[in-house]
Amino acid sequence: MTTPMLEIRDLHVRIEDEGTEILKGVNLTVPRGEVHAIMGRNGSGKSTLSYAISGREGYEITEGDVLLDGKSILDMEVDERAAAGLFLAFQYPIEIPGVATMTFLKAAMNAQRKARGEDELGTPEFMKEVRNAAAGLSIDNEMLKRALNVGFSGGEKKRAEILQMALLKPKMCILDETDSGLDIDALKVVSDGVNALRGPDRSMLVITHYQRLLNHIVPDRVHVFADGRVVESGDKDLALELESKGYAAFDGKAA
Ligand SMILES: Nc1ncnc2c1ncn2[C@@H]1O[C@H](COP(=O)(O)OP(=O)(O)O)[C@@H](O)[C@H]1O
Ligand SMILES: [Mg+2]
Repeated sequence: MTTPMLEIRDLHVRIEDEGTEILKGVNLTVPRGEVHAIMGRNGSGKSTLSYAISGREGYEITEGDVLLDGKSILDMEVDERAAAGLFLAFQYPIEIPGVATMTFLKAAMNAQRKARGEDELGTPEFMKEVRNAAAGLSIDNEMLKRALNVGFSGGEKKRAEILQMALLKPKMCILDETDSGLDIDALKVVSDGVNALRGPDRSMLVITHYQRLLNHIVPDRVHVFADGRVVESGDKDLALELESKGYAAFDGKAA
């Protein structure tokens, strides 16, 4: 059997300050090259899962493990996880006042290259890569000159994230609520961008509480999340079943 790209084993997570356990034994495996979706109602712990995988402070892992391409990432720093090929796009992206998007992208790309022992990209090469990737996402030069995410619309924030993903070429992408705040046109641009990045050596985990995103990004597997664990897994039709039956039908199911 080949090594899965992402393996989450019996993951338990609690909020450090409060002591409340939010994740109660998550088991999930994403094979290489596959796109999986996590669906679950608000408050079921989906974002907590993405924060815990990213290594965010305040989220304490009390049990279990997370393996990226066969290696545990739990002892790695946030930047080491990125260098190892993990990319996370959050529901609420951070704003970086005073730093032009272009400058941020160059720093992010070069930090990753450095951590991998590669040479830094020169400005002309970098500009060429950014322009190519940006064009496909309807991102113009003006947007690249603005401070990252500051005053960006929901759609612009999401397109900026997909641009980062295109440039950093991660092997495991986790996208949390990529559809929130997007109108239909923006949703199409973002999903086309994500679909263009699908490939045999890249896996994705798409987290959403709406089924509609999955009409555009058709997943290989769907996992239903309730009360801090995966309660049901199936193919893409499970998303439609959820839409028609509602989350209540899956409450209280044993994992
Ligand atoms: N930093 C935090 N402090 C306190 N409670 C939190 C924190 N983060 C998440 N929670 C709680 O954990 C639960 C799961 O939240 P979240 O992971 O955001 O769910 P989802 O993304 O599925 O809507 C909620 O009850 C939420 O209030
Ligand atoms: Mg969330």
